[in-house]
Amino acid sequence: MKSVFNILPEQASTVASHVDAIYLFLIAISVVFTLLAAGLVIVFGVKFRRRPDGPAPEKPHEDSRLEMAAGAFLLVLLLVLFGWGAKVYFQNTRPPADAMEILVTGKQWMWKLQHPNGRREINTLHIPVGKPVQLTMTSEDVIHSFFIPAFRVKQDVLPGRYTRLWFQATKTGRYRLFCTEYCGTEHSMMGGWVNVMTAADYERWLSGEVAGAAQETPVQAGERLFTQLGCQTCHNAGSGALGPNLAGVFGHTVKLADGSEVIADEEYLRESILNPHAKLVAGFAPVMPVFKGIINEDQLLQLIAYIKSLSGASN
Ligand code: CUA
Repeated sequence: MKSVFNILPEQASTVASHVDAIYLFLIAISVVFTLLAAGLVIVFGVKFRRRPDGPAPEKPHEDSRLEMAAGAFLLVLLLVLFGWGAKVYFQNTRPPADAMEILVTGKQWMWKLQHPNGRREINTLHIPVGKPVQLTMTSEDVIHSFFIPAFRVKQDVLPGRYTRLWFQATKTGRYRLFCTEYCGTEHSMMGGWVNVMTAADYERWLSGEVAGAAQETPVQAGERLFTQLGCQTCHNAGSGALGPNLAGVFGHTVKLADGSEVIADEEYLRESILNPHAKLVAGFAPVMPVFKGIINEDQLLQLIAYIKSLSGASN
């Protein structure tokens, strides 16, 4: 579907036409009901106006059938909208399992991005066409929001936690990228471009003649950090180790010292690195140092990527 009178940006992702269809349907409903209500007001105003020498108006007779019918019709209409909206919402918020993960860190006032092979870029995102891409995003300072109008996707980026956004581009080209949450003086400058390339071009770009020197993937960087910070001293498979062995932990249930259980997802790993005593694993003493303020968001993402790799999770 071509964008309507160019009011909407062009459609360049798999969800764009679905989002637009709902939007146009809502506009159509608004137009129909506005014209209907305004038209009836005018027609009835003329037809039933009081004539100068006419009789006093009849007492209105009570019959609620019209109201009931209108109520039922509107209920069905709204439920259709709800169901339709929910369907597109779910489609829009659940990335496919094979999505390629790109790490995003927002800070005043730029977007920092990192690809699975370690290639980094700022304010420009290169992606392959026709392949699902998932962004795992966080912020170093305030709330930002990642918005690609042509893809019809938008997600707040928050300090202290991870949010996700996914999309699949349907055509190559350059599309605007914005920060769409006011985040300070240069908020309006915080944006750039999404470059959608063919798979072959993307591979060529990824291998990057420019940054040709051997670059670390997030997993490799995380492994190096893991050693540098001395994590493996305690987190090893040996008996009597001071910390839990991290192999196979990601994505699985962990028993805590207070008897409860958590799923070891990114959020949990993040918390346990920054503030290890918040959710202590059963059977271990609270001896791990607090890493809050010691490592930054990039390093956190790398450590988590490494821990995920120990469980065979991609990236
Ligand atoms: Cu970042 Cu607005």
